[in-house]
Amino acid sequence: MRLENKVALISGGARGIGAATAELFCKEGATVVIADILEDQGKKLVNDLNQQGVNTFFTKLDVSAEADWQQATKFISDTFKKIDILVNTAAIYPRISIDDTDVETWDRVMNINARGTFLGTKYVASVMKKALTGSIINFASIGANIAGSNSSAYTASKGAVRLFTKAAAVEYASFGIRVNSVHPGYTATDMTKDIFVGEVLKDREKNTLTGRLAQPIEIAQGVVFLASDEASYVTGTELIIDGGVTSFGSRA
Ligand SMILES: NC(=O)c1ccc[n+]([C@@H]2O[C@H](COP(=O)([O-])OP(=O)(O)OC[C@H]3O[C@@H](n4cnc5c(N)ncnc54)[C@H](O)[C@@H]3O)[C@@H](O)[C@H]2O)c1
Repeated sequence: MRLENKVALISGGARGIGAATAELFCKEGATVVIADILEDQGKKLVNDLNQQGVNTFFTKLDVSAEADWQQATKFISDTFKKIDILVNTAAIYPRISIDDTDVETWDRVMNINARGTFLGTKYVASVMKKALTGSIINFASIGANIAGSNSSAYTASKGAVRLFTKAAAVEYASFGIRVNSVHPGYTATDMTKDIFVGEVLKDREKNTLTGRLAQPIEIAQGVVFLASDEASYVTGTELIIDGGVTSFGSRA
């Protein structure tokens, strides 16, 4: 098993790509703490996973709240004495034009997607630094590489995550901590289920080389690699898992 004896914290792990990552991490032998604002869904997932004989926990955490990160990292380091892996998946994706984006919406997106990633990295790295090892995986998006429609705040927040990740890789390298970003393409989750329908779904599928959306597990498999010791020389990089969306201009 590729994550045996490792302790992982996954923000936004109650559903979607975070939940698929939690499940796969368990299969690979990790002890997983799922942190999310969705308490019922997170606890249910933990119960379901633990019935399969694995070791998962739930903690309620709003990624934009500094005190929540302080509490969560204290709980995990008191309980397990270490944190080997942090996966920051929590995010929101409001579909809205620039003209309709008010300051509250802009700040909310930046606070959850960008500030949340900064806070998680800062507090978990403070634990990892003592152990001189760790892997932090931040969720950007292909939206950090190319722009999409009606998502300027989201796109800006993911651009921030992309470069923040590289800055963190530089700062924490001497502590043996690797920091990388994952950039999913169009993935079938609750975040996108009301967006990728009808003509929009057809458009998105056409924009891939695979002709379909990704399933969350296909993103999670890349996260396992970055979290594992197999990625011991991988830091400061971007893992784009997008069915080819960002790789081509035209095919005909
Ligand atoms: N689905 C896609 O097509 C797609 C594409 C590119 C990037 N991504 C990125 O992948 C990651 C996972 O997305 P997903 O599709 O699984 O989304 P999702 O909406 O299904 O899951 C996101 C999770 O984050 C949690 N969350 C939201 N705000 C939070 C907060 N303030 N504090 C704690 N938890 C919070 C939600 O409760 C939810 O469990 C996100 O960072 C997203 O931006 C997704």
